[in-house]
Amino acid sequence: MTTPQDVTQALQRTVLVANQKGGVGKTSVVTAVAGLAARPERRVLVVDADPQGNATSSDLGVEGDRGRSLVTALQYGDAPQVITDVRPGLDLVAGGPYLAQVGAITATASQTGTDVLANLRRALGEVCSQGGYTLVLIDSGPGDAPLLDALLGTVRYMIVPTRDDDASLSGVELLAGRYLRARQQGALVTLLGVVLFDSNPRATARNREVLADVDALLEGSGAAAFGTMIRSDRASAMDLRNAHVTPAELVEVIGAQNRDRLAWLSGGKHRRLDTGDTEGTRLWSRDPSALATDYQELTREVLSRIAAVERSGSPA
Ligand SMILES: Nc1ncnc2c1ncn2[C@@H]1O[C@H](COP(=O)(O)OP(=O)(O)O)[C@@H](O)[C@H]1O
Ligand SMILES: [Mg+2]
Repeated sequence: MTTPQDVTQALQRTVLVANQKGGVGKTSVVTAVAGLAARPERRVLVVDADPQGNATSSDLGVEGDRGRSLVTALQYGDAPQVITDVRPGLDLVAGGPYLAQVGAITATASQTGTDVLANLRRALGEVCSQGGYTLVLIDSGPGDAPLLDALLGTVRYMIVPTRDDDASLSGVELLAGRYLRARQQGALVTLLGVVLFDSNPRATARNREVLADVDALLEGSGAAAFGTMIRSDRASAMDLRNAHVTPAELVEVIGAQNRDRLAWLSGGKHRRLDTGDTEGTRLWSRDPSALATDYQELTREVLSRIAAVERSGSPA
């Protein structure tokens, strides 16, 4: 990787998941879609660029270096440490509290000569060309503006999850400003789509209204909302985080439990009834399959929109 074109080429499957409001589903979307897209022969990378490190520790259940090597990447352009196969075909660059240093690094950048954006492009480009990833999903924190700007200048695509409340929409508005500015400054980032999170699939009029608002905020971006919404399912959401499983894994675990319960009810009483624990975690979900299907559909849409851009230059 010697020329800037090589770096851009290496970064062509990078997708930033962003919204400047917290709690809108950024981390959930990143880990669920990554888990579903990853296969041993179709490798996927998650980059956890959030100081909270929820994708790393809560959703994927990995300890990691708490964002240390990612900060070093931003500071010096060295490739960050990649934790391989946290799931089959799924690699991770860990996030965590070290990322809180990015603000200080950018504040002194003019004195130190540090170019955070150039460093990030080089470091991530290196990781992407080494790993040959089909998809690279980048989780971002709610607040950190300098880090967000560096990410917007690095990635090829952006996905914006939002809830339907005003606070989430003002998070979209803040992000829209930064996104449009990054593009004016020559960033290649393209909005792949907006996804409604924690939504009621039956509230069609309300959902349409919210998506129209978001579209207006991201004016000129040209990407429609995803057809898929992530439905509200608090019980499953709790299990995903507490048991550190992806939606597809949760479906399997709950399915196995239900089979155990059935066997027990139908007279197999010698079997121990395993009342809902994955490594000691009590599970609340009864049926996570509808939620898992939402994520499956979203994953399909994400991959097909990227393919459409690569074919014809537009996500539609
Ligand atoms: N399908 C869902 N329905 C309701 N709540 C959910 C769902 N999925 C996740 N949550 C919860 O929503 C909260 C925010 O999700 P998260 O992905 O962490 O958002 P962000 O990364 O934007 O802060 C978490 O507490 C999570 O458990
Ligand atoms: Mg998050």
